[in-house]
Amino acid sequence: MKTLVIGGGGREHAIAWKLSQSNKVDKIYCCPGNAGISEIAECIEIDPLNFDALIDFVKYEWIDITFVGPELPLAKGIVDAFEKEGLKIVGPTSEAARLESSKVFAKDFMKRHKIPTADYQVFTSLSLAEEHIRMKSLPLVIKADGLAAGKGVFVVKDYDEAYSALKLILKDKVFGDAGKSVVIEDCLIGEEASFMVFTDGTSIIPMASSQDHKRVFDNDEGPNTGGMGAYSPAPVVTKDLQEIIMQDIVYPTINGLRSEGIRYKGILYAGLMICDGSPFVLEFNCRMGDPETQPVLMRLEGDLMDISMAITNERLKDAEIRWSDKSSVCVVLASGGYPDKYKKGFEIKGLDKVKGFKDVVIFHAGTDFKDDKIVTNGGRVLGITAIGDSIKSARDRAYEAIGHIHFEDMHFRKDIASRALNRG
Ligand code: AMP
Ligand code: GLY
Repeated sequence: MKTLVIGGGGREHAIAWKLSQSNKVDKIYCCPGNAGISEIAECIEIDPLNFDALIDFVKYEWIDITFVGPELPLAKGIVDAFEKEGLKIVGPTSEAARLESSKVFAKDFMKRHKIPTADYQVFTSLSLAEEHIRMKSLPLVIKADGLAAGKGVFVVKDYDEAYSALKLILKDKVFGDAGKSVVIEDCLIGEEASFMVFTDGTSIIPMASSQDHKRVFDNDEGPNTGGMGAYSPAPVVTKDLQEIIMQDIVYPTINGLRSEGIRYKGILYAGLMICDGSPFVLEFNCRMGDPETQPVLMRLEGDLMDISMAITNERLKDAEIRWSDKSSVCVVLASGGYPDKYKKGFEIKGLDKVKGFKDVVIFHAGTDFKDDKIVTNGGRVLGITAIGDSIKSARDRAYEAIGHIHFEDMHFRKDIASRALNRG
């Protein structure tokens, strides 16, 4: 079979890597891909938002199924466009993807279906939003409604911070139309976890739990990023808690959407805050997490091609999905300066030394070729991902591999998964 992966980050490298292990897969294409992905897939130069061109390509190459990595093509309707042409594609329609593309939609939906989440109010008027803030105690969380590449959420500790966030979104319009409305919600205190499931709209199969590290510096300091590292499993998600998450959050979400006439197919990601043992939804994503996908797929023992076909054919209940008992840790190597300004084009040295390192996979995120060398080409550059009998052994192995890799201005967190270790 032939498959196309949409996207070009670490998550898409992990998806292509897992697909490449299926004995049913003969050929993988990736649009646009990156230097690492090009070792296992043919990277194609089509704009991932040019759906007509992608459909022409898929028909011309007789591609059996397409797997979408990032949220933007989903929000813009790639699944709707492909399905109209009778093409198989893994992901939700743009209407279903509103769970991620509109925080107002997601919050109102959760309220309608009694899904636990922080109390909130929605505003389009700056003066009313400011007035509301004055009546609330701090900290609070202010979120732009639409997609803002992870930059539209502000956890504010004082009134000045709150007013500047509101001004940035509603007056200066730094997020454009994505900031037409804001959600102002209570700040939840607890431990975060990422919980993803595969679903065909009726059957739901949970993935292994994971935990992300959003802040750029050690000890969760500095600005939020797309994610500086992740590990799986997340010890905070016990078996009992997983059952509560399924019953109180995941089933009500998929079933609630269906009761509103929306069939959700693909991957649903719930970003959770676990407060005194109870899960609350911070956000929904309509796709796999990055970097959570890297450690989670390292632990998948099923065949991702079979799972993808089962999702699109609406027979996920027959799919065989097992998770390894091992633990996995991914440490992101980023360009110095990320998530703000950073330079690109630095040669990445040492990749050959870790090639073939047992239990380690180097997932590429922002990489490219220049003069036959692999160079940096983004904020997040590589995700060094290791698997082991425990979080500690996986983590030690990942950091050991990192010791061999270098590029100018390289930055990474030294405390990935320490919280899991400290739990014992
Ligand atoms: P989101 O994109 O909505 O997940 O928000 C990004 C990050 O902001 C989350 O991973 C949390 O660290 C933080 N956050 C979002 N909403 C809340 C909340 N209600 N209480 C506390 N922290 C939050
Ligand atoms: N790592 C968080 C996300 O993918 O949204």
